[in-house]
Amino acid sequence: MKYILSFLISLTLFSCQQTLSIEQRVDNIIAQMTTAEKVGQMTQIDHRFLDDHVDITDYAIGSLLSGGGSHPKENTLEAWVDLYNNYQEKALASRLGIPLIYGIDAVHGHNNVKGATIFPHNIGLGATGNSDIVRSVSEATASEVAATGINWTFAPCIATPQDYRWGRTYEGFSSDPKVALELGVAAVEGYQSSTKKNPRKVIACAKHFIGDGNTLFGTGMANLVDRGNTILSKEDLKKTLIPAYQAAIDAGVETIMASYNSWNGVKCHGSKELLTDILKEEMGFKGFVISDWAGIDEIPGDYKSDIVTSINAGMDMVMVSGESEPYKKFMALLTEAIEEKLIPMSRIDDAVSRILKVKFRAGLFEDPLMDYNYLSEIGSDENREIARDAVRQSIVVLKNESILPLSNTKIEAGDQKIVVAGRGADNLGMQCGGWTIDWQGGQGNITEGTTILEGLIENAPPGIEIVSDPLANSVKGDVALVIIGEDPYTEFFGDRDSLNLNEEDLQVIENAKAQGMKVVVLLISGRPMNIFPHIFNWDAFAAIWLPGSEGAGISDVLFGNYNPTGRLSFPWPTQAEEGANSSSVLYDMGAGLSYE
Ligand code: GLC
Repeated sequence: MKYILSFLISLTLFSCQQTLSIEQRVDNIIAQMTTAEKVGQMTQIDHRFLDDHVDITDYAIGSLLSGGGSHPKENTLEAWVDLYNNYQEKALASRLGIPLIYGIDAVHGHNNVKGATIFPHNIGLGATGNSDIVRSVSEATASEVAATGINWTFAPCIATPQDYRWGRTYEGFSSDPKVALELGVAAVEGYQSSTKKNPRKVIACAKHFIGDGNTLFGTGMANLVDRGNTILSKEDLKKTLIPAYQAAIDAGVETIMASYNSWNGVKCHGSKELLTDILKEEMGFKGFVISDWAGIDEIPGDYKSDIVTSINAGMDMVMVSGESEPYKKFMALLTEAIEEKLIPMSRIDDAVSRILKVKFRAGLFEDPLMDYNYLSEIGSDENREIARDAVRQSIVVLKNESILPLSNTKIEAGDQKIVVAGRGADNLGMQCGGWTIDWQGGQGNITEGTTILEGLIENAPPGIEIVSDPLANSVKGDVALVIIGEDPYTEFFGDRDSLNLNEEDLQVIENAKAQGMKVVVLLISGRPMNIFPHIFNWDAFAAIWLPGSEGAGISDVLFGNYNPTGRLSFPWPTQAEEGANSSSVLYDMGAGLSYE
């Protein structure tokens, strides 16, 4: 009899819960929470730095993340699902059973996961100028992220990079805030759409708020660019950088990440004017603000004052990470600050309320666990075709002396021999760039995909012979296709004081010319680089950015199966170090050739 009674009570409670609004359910939970549980909800840890998984239960941890390269022991699809479920079950076992939300940098596909589709980085998506393909790419990414159980991507980055010496230039769609707005909205809509195949929601994160791409050279880490100082009046900030965030908010973005940089000398992570007055009050942001990785540590002062300053400024969840400062130290100091009334409980309750509302809206309370049923979504043919289409649309042909599309112009005299050379010809890691499998990316066969050379061989039309000669010094053909570019990098590892091309690459081009071949140069890069004056000696040139795993998209353009539509979303200066505001421009914003 008593079992029937308890079942009826729980059924009644559950059905009551279902009739309550999210606000009412959140208020009910907060009313039951201890200070320690509220502090736990505001804490985000990289799973690698957990002292013990049971800490998730004992401290009611609100969120975990996988930073770049933070995999399960085996980087297999099932292992990712098991990793997520294991941690989620620990969270559900906590006193109030509040589910955790798991974040990851799925910034060009589910890029930590081996076998996932790797899409072009944002600089290439920007060159498509096509919000539809950006939405499709983001939706496909969300379907792969959701298949592993993970429910939060730290994307899109809506920076508007101005100084190309910044290692994160490629994470921006464009130097033009209007393009960043249009494509940023498309990305938010794509990521947060309930994917047709998988009902799980993935929430997005517009980043990095604000001015990450506008810092002054010399003010950043190692006196370079990243995390430097952005000098802009409030009026100019509102005219240029705020609109893209307002549009993302209006599109329903659930989280926004604070930026490492400073605004007029004040760290964004500690700026109440930015995080509360402007973002929450003036712009009406109702989601929650997440810090960057140990971002509060860079606020001037000791760690406790960093915590007090950032939370009072409006930070809702802190990506403690656990790598630099132990998460138990963070939680102890935050608790101390609350008890000493250095942080009002009203601020804590506001932060926790925002976090819980996002978790409710993400469906986490109803359906927190994942199964293996959606794993076929990861790296699916359909998603790879979307990626190949994005690659085609991202290519910007800037010079073409009647060489492209490659075809057999002398069919009677036998095959047209295309010699394929250069470091980037057969190098999946190089064409994917940073944020791929590991934080800094890697070289060679780091995951599943098609290299540019493989695509050329697979798709060569009759009459075209593809021959690989990496240094272009041993096979004489009719045309040399030399694929050069940057080695992978991420964040400040990509900060440079010079944007010259690699001497080794230039030598390969010289070798090809010395053999009397016509030369088509393709540049794999995260930014415009110093192609002047070298380009005068090239017969054709295309920027292919960081195309990702579907290298066959390049051959679609080279063989004329797709008439190039890509257009520059960053102006290309004669001297690339001068960036987007250079007075001497080689190719304007919007430049790009199609075939006659
Ligand atoms: C990094 C990046 C940020 C990323 C976060 C988590 O430092 O600045 O873009 O989302 O840490 O990996």
